[in-house]
Parts: sequence; structure tokens; C-alpha cells
Amino acid sequence: MDVPHESAEPGDAPPSTLPETPLTRFLRAVLWGAAILPLAGFIAASWWAWRHADDGVRDTLVRTSDVAARHALRVFESSRLIGEKSLAFLGIPDDQVRANEAALRVRLQDTSIGIPGVRSISVWDAQGHHLVGTGFPVGSGDVSIADRNYFQQMKATQAPLVIGDIVLGRASGMPALSIAVRRTMPDGSFGGAVVIALQPAVFEEFYRSISLEEAGVSTFNLFKADGTLLTRWPVLPDGRARLPDDSPVLAAVRRGEHSGVLSFRSAFDGMLRTVSFQQVHDLPVYVSSSLRNDAVLADWKRFVMLLAAITLPVTIGLVSVAWLALRKTQLEQRMAIEFNAEARKRALAEKALLQSQKLEALAQLTGGVAHDFNNLLAIVNSNLHVVKKLRPDVAEMKQIGAISRAVGSGARLTRQLLSFSRRQALKPERVDLATWLPAVAELLKATLGSSVALSLEVAPEVPPIRVDVGELELALINLASNARDAMPGGGRLTIEASREPAGDGEPERVLIRATDTGSGIDPALLGKVLEPFFTTKPASKGSGLGLSQVQGFCVQAGGSVEVRSEPGQGTSILMRLPARPGVPSDTVPASLAEPAAVSGRVLLVDDNAEVVDATAEMLQACGLQVHSVRSAGAALDALAGASQMPDLVFSDVSMPGEMDGIQLAHEIRRRWPALPVVLLTGYAARVHDATEAGFRVLGKPVGAQALLDEFMRATRGR
Ligand SMILES: Nc1ncnc2c1ncn2[C@@H]1O[C@H](COP(=O)(O)OP(=O)(O)OP(=O)(O)O)[C@@H](O)[C@H]1O
Ligand SMILES: [Mg+2]
Repeated sequence: MDVPHESAEPGDAPPSTLPETPLTRFLRAVLWGAAILPLAGFIAASWWAWRHADDGVRDTLVRTSDVAARHALRVFESSRLIGEKSLAFLGIPDDQVRANEAALRVRLQDTSIGIPGVRSISVWDAQGHHLVGTGFPVGSGDVSIADRNYFQQMKATQAPLVIGDIVLGRASGMPALSIAVRRTMPDGSFGGAVVIALQPAVFEEFYRSISLEEAGVSTFNLFKADGTLLTRWPVLPDGRARLPDDSPVLAAVRRGEHSGVLSFRSAFDGMLRTVSFQQVHDLPVYVSSSLRNDAVLADWKRFVMLLAAITLPVTIGLVSVAWLALRKTQLEQRMAIEFNAEARKRALAEKALLQSQKLEALAQLTGGVAHDFNNLLAIVNSNLHVVKKLRPDVAEMKQIGAISRAVGSGARLTRQLLSFSRRQALKPERVDLATWLPAVAELLKATLGSSVALSLEVAPEVPPIRVDVGELELALINLASNARDAMPGGGRLTIEASREPAGDGEPERVLIRATDTGSGIDPALLGKVLEPFFTTKPASKGSGLGLSQVQGFCVQAGGSVEVRSEPGQGTSILMRLPARPGVPSDTVPASLAEPAAVSGRVLLVDDNAEVVDATAEMLQACGLQVHSVRSAGAALDALAGASQMPDLVFSDVSMPGEMDGIQLAHEIRRRWPALPVVLLTGYAARVHDATEAGFRVLGKPVGAQALLDEFMRATRGR
């Protein structure tokens, strides 16, 4: 867990992906529906149109081939009738026929009156010689059809009707389709044939008229089961006489099919066609009609284009409307989320402001009390010192010792309070952690006790910092005592110091991290531990000011604190302090450290009579002549009228009246530049101004030794 003490709460920024709501889900479904439904409709309609066109084509073809088959049957039936009618008067011997040739020829002509397409009717004897005919002059008995296929077939099979091929007529020289009807003699013997020669045009004309009625039907074939073409419409330019052997229609006929519809590429013109074929009744003759697929396809394509032209704009319109509605809803949703996040942020900021105001008020209150309390302690301390000096016999009394210890504890407590309220009078000085930390190790070990081990790790080249050494020491002692309390069963406290390089707009800093292996802090309490007076310890053990001092110290030194903790694992407190690489070291002459007997004159300025008296007595006890006054004005008067100038002026900073200690120091520096002034305060206000102006400042309560050190430093070299 990683919680900086200025931690922001989650949910500050609006999320980048919006959550789905029932409304957005519905609108998304509408959007998909608006796209998919018309598309599905379009596909279904196109498919239906294709099926419809295909069915239509098949129906048309089946109908036309049926019509053509009926027509062919009618023509063949008429020819058979003509044949049978003729045979009614031709059942006489051949020589009688020849004898009555002219009369019979006329009768033959009469039988075909009104029947279209009949070119000629002729009668032939059993050997195929001509007997009588409408297309031949009388006496053409030497003309023979014995070589014709249909005659040979009839003679061989004795079939009552044989349909011949298209051949050029013997008499006319024109192409004709011969229908041969068997001539049976009265004794039942084969007597030759009556042959009706039909003009192919009788079929061609009929097919042409159907194709005019049935749009798209473009070809008709009349063919025999063996593939011989009898008629084709339109007439083939190459005059082909047979269907190709690999024709699918012929294959179906050979398989014994009487009718059917097929689709294939035509061998005649190379086009993809749909063909319907049908047998002419039970004759070995078939008709077929066909249609070019591309014509059907073109019609279907036109329909699909039209459909697309209607569907597309409608779909685009629907999708756009649904999309706009979805966008608008999402926009509103985003705005609502942003608004909520903004409101949450504002609430958080307000809470933080309230908290800081609360702390500030608390700091002011504590600071004020601590300051006054400090003055009281100063009085007790000074008087204690004087008593010890004047009455060495009572100095060893255990009650005096108790008072001394109590004053020491009181001083430490006020120091914590002043640190947290950031009103501590500081003595910032350069600290090199590489040498300073090991020096305080003993102190920390004493705080930790024997069951907790201490590790110090100072990274090489940690830059120096400039802080109040006493405060830094106190902060580490506070961290050590917290660590000790968190590890009742023992453990390890590691204090590391390292350099944090300068970041974006951030100055270079030194990180002091104290990590223990203790109980850790409950995540719910992490945000509170820095608050003053927050403690989880019993009243006798903790006042809740330790971490407040650490924070107060760091902030006053220009740094910050961060608390990281993992319950059960341990706690890390990170103090970040500004690095001060350029600061020179403050060297303290050795002589000052030792207490010495001194002599000289001091002017003491303080508005608090008891503080003045106690301090004066303490200094006098050390061998100094002390003149004390109660205000800055009185001090200036005393100096102006002095016969012998003092060696040093000690002045309180905050004093009522027109002039405070800092102004007094300025005035003295102006009028008596050689006279040193040292300011005393328990209060941080304006200490900065005083140190900036180059005056020495001591924090209250200040002991006798500190005052003497300061006197000796000021008068050194005189
Ligand atoms: N290292 C630590 N491990 C576990 N908990 C800690 C640690 N440091 C601080 N805490 C928790 O934070 C609280 C506040 O600490 P803080 O030092 O401010 O006060 P305190 O130790 O309770 O009292 P004081 O330091 O004034 O004697 C502690 O009571 C403790 O619950
Ligand atoms: Mg503590």
C-alpha cells in the first residue's frame, strides 16, 4: 500500500470508457437493427426475386415446349389422316392405280385441301416405285424412293407411320419433311407407302409466332430421338442437321426421359441457356425451347439495383438517426459523469480545506499555549540553575533532580507542540548525513531497546541538507519510538538516506526513509496518523504528537512526509528534504563547547519581568554583569546614556510597544554597529526576517550554557 499523506481519493478523473446503461444498450441494438434488418430484407427480396425469375423461366419454357409439342402432334396427326384418307381409295392393285393415275392424282389433291404446309402427297409401291402423286407428272413410274431411310425403315419394320428426315424433294428439289404412312393391301401384305411431304416452314412460322408472344424464348428445336434435327428456329446459318452427340438434352432423351428442364452452355452459340424439352406424344420426336440465362439475369439485376436504390438511402437514414441518438445519449452520459467527478473533486477540495483550516486553528492554539508554557519553563529552568549555583548543598537533592527532569520533559513536550505548529524557533545548519547519522545511532539504539536491531544505509554522495539538527534528531527519535512500539516482539528498523534527483520543476531532494518490520498501519487509519493528537496507544504511552512533529519539521524545512504501510508487513516513513549542496559547514570553535568562566557586560531586554529576572540571575551566577530593561525604548535609552557600553545585547523578539526585538536590533546595528545583538524567542514568527537580516536567534527555553556560548561567540576576538 502506498499512501502519500496528501493522497487524493480515487475517481477524480472521469473514466475513459462509459458504462453501458439499459438506454445505451437499447440504442446500440436499434443501431444494429437499423443496419441489419434492411440488409437482411434486401438479401431476402433479391433471393426471392431470383427464385421467382427462375421459376418464371421454367414455367414459360415448359409452357412453350408443350405448345410446340401439341402443334407438332397436330401436324403429324393431319399427315396420318391424309394418308389414311388416301388409302381409302388406293387399296386397289398397283396396275389399276397406274391406269387411273390422272383421276387419282386429282383425288389426292382434294385430301389435302385446307391443310397448311403440305407440299405434296405421293403414293409408292412395295418396291418404292412411283404410282401416283401431286408433285409428280403423270407417268413418273421410274422414279423411286427405295433409297430413302424412312421407306427402308417402313419396309423393314412394317410400321404404320414413319417420320423421315428433312430431304430435298425428288420432284420439287425443295427441302421437305416426309411423313410415310404404310399402304396395306386388302390381303394384308405391304403395299408401299403414302408419303406426305411437309414444308419445314409450317413449324418455323409457328415457332416464330410463339417467341413473339413469350418474351425471351429464343430457340426451338424439333428433333428425332436419334438427334436428327428436323427443324430449328431461328434457322442455323451453318445448316447443321443434328444435335451435338454430347448434348445434355439428347442424353436425357437416351435415358428415356419424356420431358425436362436443363441448364447448360449451348453448343450452337456458346451461351448459357435453360432448355425445356418434351416428347411429341408417343412419337420418336421431341421439341425443345430455350432461353438465354443472361437475359433473365439482366432482368434480375435491374430489380436488385432498383431495390438497392430504395433500401440504401432508407438504411443510411435509419442508421444515422440511431447513431446520432446513441452519440447524444453517450455525450449526455459523459457530461453527467464529468459533472459528478467535478462535484466530487470540489467536495474533496472543500474537505481538505476544512481539514487544513482545522489543523491551522489547532496549530495556532497549541502554538500560543506552548509559547507561554515555554516562558514559564524558562523561568523555572533559570531559577533552578541559580539555585544550583548559589546552593551547591541542595543541588544534589532528589527533589531538585525531579524538578530538573520534569522541566526537561516539559521542554520536550513544548518542543513537539511547537514543531507541529511550525512555530519552533529554528537554528538551521548544514547536516552531512553520511557523518551525522552514525553519530546519532547510539541515541536511536537507546530509544529502540535491545530487541530491535538498527541498520543505517547512507548512499554515497548524498548531498548535505540544511535543517535544525535538534529537530531532525527529535524526528528520528519519534520514528524510532514508533518503530519500537510497533515491534513489541523485536524486529529491525532500517534508516536509509539517498539522493532524489531533480524532476520536472522539482528541486533535488534528500530522502530519509525509516522502514520497520512491525505491525503496520490499518489502511483506514493511514490518512490520520499525521494528525496531531491522533494515537492508537494508551494515554500513558502516546500523546499522538510524534508524527505531527515529523511532519511539522519536514514542512518547515521545505520538505514533505509520506507514510507507506502494509498491515502485518511493516511501515515506511519517507521524509523528503531539500538538498543544499552549496551550503558551507558551520564550524563551532572547540572552546565554545566547553563551559568556561566568563566576564563582561550584558544588556538584557524582555517584557516578562520574571523571565528577565530569572535570566539575569542565571547570567550573573556565571560571572556576567547584567543590566535588564523591559522594553526596546528603555534599551535604546540605556545604551544612549551608558557610560560603559555592554559587550552584548540579549533581546526577546516579541515585545509590546512601538518596537519589537527585531526592530531594536536594526536600530542598534544602525547606531552602534560594533555592538552584537542576539535575539531570543520561543516563537517562530518573523524569525526568518531576523536570520535573513543576519541576527543570531536562540530558541527558548535557553539554558545557561547556550547563553554563555553565545556570549563567547559574540565577544570572541575583542
Ligand atoms: N511505525 C509504526 N508502525 C505502526 N503504527 C505506527 C507507526 N508509527 C505510527 N504509527 C501509528 O500512528 C499513530 C500516531 O503516531 P504518533 O507518533 O503521531 O503518535 P504516538 O506514537 O501514538 O504518540 P507519541 O508519539 O506522541 O508518543 C500511532 O499511535 C500508531 O498507531
Ligand atoms: Mg510516536
